[in-house]
Amino acid sequence: MSTSAENRGQFGSKLGFILSAAGSAVGLGNIWKFPGKAYFCGGGAFLIIYLIIVALVGTTVMMAEFTVGRKTHKNAVGAMRELNAKWSWVGGLGVLTGFIILCYYCQVGGWAMKYIVAYIVDVKTIWADPTAYFLNNLLGADGTFPLQGAVIFPFIFLFLTAYIISHGTAGIEKMSKLLMPLLFIMLIALMIRSCTLPGADDGLKYMLNVDFSTINGVAILTALGQAFFSLSLGMGVMMTYASYLSNEDNLISNTAIVCTLDTLVALFAGFMIIPAVFATGIAPGMGGGFGFATLAGVFMAIPGGQLIGTVFYFLLFFAAITSSTSILEGTIAFLVEEKGFERKKALLGASIVIFIIGVMYTLSQAYMNLKGIWISGDGISYPIFGDFLEYLTDRLLLPLGAFFTTVFVGWIWGTDNSVEEATSYGKFKFTLAPVYKFIVKILDPIAIGAIIIAGLVF
Ligand code: PHE
Repeated sequence: MSTSAENRGQFGSKLGFILSAAGSAVGLGNIWKFPGKAYFCGGGAFLIIYLIIVALVGTTVMMAEFTVGRKTHKNAVGAMRELNAKWSWVGGLGVLTGFIILCYYCQVGGWAMKYIVAYIVDVKTIWADPTAYFLNNLLGADGTFPLQGAVIFPFIFLFLTAYIISHGTAGIEKMSKLLMPLLFIMLIALMIRSCTLPGADDGLKYMLNVDFSTINGVAILTALGQAFFSLSLGMGVMMTYASYLSNEDNLISNTAIVCTLDTLVALFAGFMIIPAVFATGIAPGMGGGFGFATLAGVFMAIPGGQLIGTVFYFLLFFAAITSSTSILEGTIAFLVEEKGFERKKALLGASIVIFIIGVMYTLSQAYMNLKGIWISGDGISYPIFGDFLEYLTDRLLLPLGAFFTTVFVGWIWGTDNSVEEATSYGKFKFTLAPVYKFIVKILDPIAIGAIIIAGLVF
């Protein structure tokens, strides 16, 4: 490896990389987004569709990203440029997507922190009216400025993210080694608690009952967008992480482990939340409110709910910060290596912009409409900006990033090169290489392309 590559830093151990990559993958997507989507998109049938998509599309796109990153030891833009100068914009698209996601990700991470504190010191106020608490304290739906929910806690969250990133891979690795095992233990404990609640069976049945008549185009589209988001694909983050690996590391087993861990966490989260929702008879709210308003109702109704709730928001926070760091690292690696910024300055500049857009994300969901700052049709038809950001990233930019990555690896750089890199030039065995080649070249572009088009039409 060249000296410049060495200067970029490397993961210190195999476990460090696996936990960091899994830390990136396991995030709000698994715990805050997945259970709600599984619930609304048909329970068991959705789980099966999701598993198929991860097994075929998720693993292969991840492998494609890993090989490009490790081959070049560069950030997403530099990596694509090195392999083919005409394609560096795909890396750029990824960096942009990550940047947009981070704007709202830090807000929700901040909400989790706000709820940790509120569960410890002021749980009665939340439980008095969980939905109102969520809407008013986080979104300012009562017209009072949500200072803590939209500004202070998201700021602390973003600050912590930037602080960890300022220490490079060493910071990421240290954090992931501590938080990921904790996250697993907490999740399993909460899942067991939830599944043993009286009345939880109905929720279990719902999640295990496979009825494909509930599956429509939107469900498939949702599953695909969710898989990319959850596995941190389509924006060069996994590419950037793999660029800090050496040829000693086995990309094939790493892909399998990271995809499995991420999917397990999503399933566990589903089996933690849905049975509790059924057991307590709370009607699940839509979207963002699921993890905050709905669950408050659930915690309120079960014994030891205050403790369980506090543990849950810690878990959400851990999951979020091990992901937000990975996204920020993707952006910063780009600014430093491509644009020549000093690391600390890049961090500061990026963080300020991310913060401002993020605050707007939260405020746009109610407050700005109420105050007439945001243009909304009939005064109540928000959340325009908030929805727009998520729609743009999950439905369009992530799939587009993944689409171009597979076209690039399949047809431009070539699957033979990718497979050589995956095996560390013959060091590791890759029995499924022919399958991988076929999927990256043919199946991925067709499937992802079709779904992008469907997404624009639906
Ligand atoms: N995978 C993370 C999650 O599930 C989010 C993320 C997306 C992280 C893209 C990095 C890149 O929440």
